[in-house]
Amino acid sequence: MPFTIAIDGPAASGKGTIARALAQRFGFLHLDTGLLYRAVGAMGGDPVAAARALTPEDLLRPGLRSAEAGQAASRVAAIPEVRAVLVDFQRRFAVQEPGAVLDGRDIGTVICPGAQLKLYVVARDETRAARRAAELGVDPTEMLAQLRERDARDADRATAPLRAAPDAVVLDTTALTIDEAVARAVALVEDRLSAQPAP
Ligand code: C5P
Repeated sequence: MPFTIAIDGPAASGKGTIARALAQRFGFLHLDTGLLYRAVGAMGGDPVAAARALTPEDLLRPGLRSAEAGQAASRVAAIPEVRAVLVDFQRRFAVQEPGAVLDGRDIGTVICPGAQLKLYVVARDETRAARRAAELGVDPTEMLAQLRERDARDADRATAPLRAAPDAVVLDTTALTIDEAVARAVALVEDRLSAQPAP
């Protein structure tokens, strides 16, 4: 049975970095599900039609990592029909052998509630803003306001809001280096893998 790791958390908490590192360490596939919403937001026009027309090439569009694309993503992500269109693709991705890591906002709660490991990655608001501002070369104060606005929209929406699954392990990366955060996540995966029944 493929091993699925679900990683959720607010913007810039470190979940993408941890997801990439786990995928590389264990030879699993990785899907940054935020990119799906960023691409839909960037396509313009009717967001539901854009979600239906989404192709893998759309995920390579330039500019998808910008703060503006993040805001547009969080607006289209609040539309239940947009989310519904993207569910099957994510669920199919999650059950590929030998395993898959998906990071987003609703992976542990909606997309993969049966994932073998669920992580909910958090960090202090100011720390997250400083990290993302450094990454994008923008002002940290402006970034803090933007992240808070986006997190509030993601957490307050009616469909698949940002939430930790009840059985998620919370990982606070505020005081951790990237290596420390990854090491904790690796230990959790190894622990769950060793508890897996032999194939
Ligand atoms: O993770 P990232 O910051 O790229 O996500 C951009 C936006 O996409 C989030 O603010 C959120 O609104 C939306 N998103 C979502 N569900 C996911 C992943 C991302 O609603 N699983």
